[in-house]
Amino acid sequence: MAISTQTHQLLELINHYPSPHNGQPIVVELVDKTTLRLYFDRARGLQATDISYLFSYVSMGVFAEHLQLSGKALGHEIALTPTLPKESELRGEGLVPFAQATVKWDASTPDGALQGVLEARQTSRKKYFEGPDAVTAKELETIAAEESMSLVQLDAKATQQAIWLNQRAVFDDLFDEPVRQELNHWLRYSKAEKETKRDGLSYDCMQINGGAMKYVVNHPKLLRTPGIGPILKQYYLRTMKDSSSVFYMLAPFQTEEQSYEIGRVVMRIWKRVAEKGYSLHPFGTIMSNVAAHKDFAQIAGIEHESREKSYLVFIFRMGKSKPAVRSERIPYQEHLLKKESTS
Ligand SMILES: Cc1cc2nc3c(=O)[nH]c(=O)nc-3n(C[C@H](O)[C@H](O)[C@H](O)COP(=O)(O)O)c2cc1C
Repeated sequence: MAISTQTHQLLELINHYPSPHNGQPIVVELVDKTTLRLYFDRARGLQATDISYLFSYVSMGVFAEHLQLSGKALGHEIALTPTLPKESELRGEGLVPFAQATVKWDASTPDGALQGVLEARQTSRKKYFEGPDAVTAKELETIAAEESMSLVQLDAKATQQAIWLNQRAVFDDLFDEPVRQELNHWLRYSKAEKETKRDGLSYDCMQINGGAMKYVVNHPKLLRTPGIGPILKQYYLRTMKDSSSVFYMLAPFQTEEQSYEIGRVVMRIWKRVAEKGYSLHPFGTIMSNVAAHKDFAQIAGIEHESREKSYLVFIFRMGKSKPAVRSERIPYQEHLLKKESTS
C-alpha cells in the first residue's frame, strides 16, 4: 500500500513513543485507509522477570495514548479498541495483536504545540537543577486521580533514599543473570553501535562512559569489590544527587487491562511533564527488583500494597535538567510499519 503524506507524518510522530530499554516493541499494520492494527513484538519486550510480562501492557498503553495524542497533534481523531492478548501469549517471539485503531483524518484543527511537546519529550538521566512547582505536581496527581490511581510526591529525605535505592537495584540486577543478559542485549556501548542499531539504551543517554559500562556489565563482581565498588556507586549517582523530586503511583495491577490503563496514564503524565518544561526519569528497576520494591514501599510508608487494589506501578524522578542526549529510533519504515509478509 502506498503511504500518503498524512500517514507518513503520523508514523514519524508516533515513532517518538517511549519504551522500556528503548526496545521499540510496537508494530503498526495499515489495514485500510482508516484502520490500523497494533501489534506487540514479543522479542522486543522485556522477559527476564515474571513481572516483565504484565509490565508489557504498560508499554502497550503508553503507545496507545501516544498514538492518540499524535493523531490529535496532527488534526486526526483516533479511536482505539484494545484486543489485549493473555499474559501467557507474551512469552516467546513473534507479533501479537493488542488493539485496533480507527482514524478519522482531518477531524480537528492540528495542534502544533502538542506536536512540539511529543517531539521534545525525553527521558533525562542528567542532574536536575530544579524540582517541580506545586501547581504542576498537583496537576500530575489529578491526572492519576481521574483514573482512580494515586500519584504521590516523596519528601526530600525519602527522595534521596529512593534515588539511592534505584542505584542499588540497578547494581544488584547485574547479579541476576537473566536480567544482566537482557540489559547487555539492549545496552549500546559505543557511538558506532548506537548509530547502527538505533534502538536500546545508549551509554550517552545513560550518562555513563561506554567502555566502563561494558566492562562492569561483563564483570559485575567489580561492584562488590572493596575500593572499586564505592567509586562506581558514586560515579553512577553523580547525576542524581540533585534537586529532583521522586513520585510514585499506586494502582490496581492484576489484569492485562489494568496494566494497559496504567500505561495510558503514564503517558498522560509524561506529556504534561514535557508540556510544563520538565523532564522525568523512570525508576522501573525498583518495581521489578523484588528487594528494592519492598524497601521502596517502606521508605514511602506504603502499608498495604495489594495487586487487586493498590500496587506500586510507576516511580520516577522529575525536574528541570539541561537537554538530555536524544535516544535513537529505528526509521518507522524498518520496524514500526508491519511488512506484508510478517505475522
Ligand atoms: C514503562 C517504561 C519504563 C521505563 N523504565 C526505565 C527505567 O527503569 N530506567 C530508565 O533509565 N529508563 C526507563 N524508561 C525510559 C526508557 O528507557 C526511554 O523511554 C527510552 O530509552 C527512550 O528514550 P526517550 O524517553 O528519551 O525517548 C522507561 C520507559 C518506559 C515507557
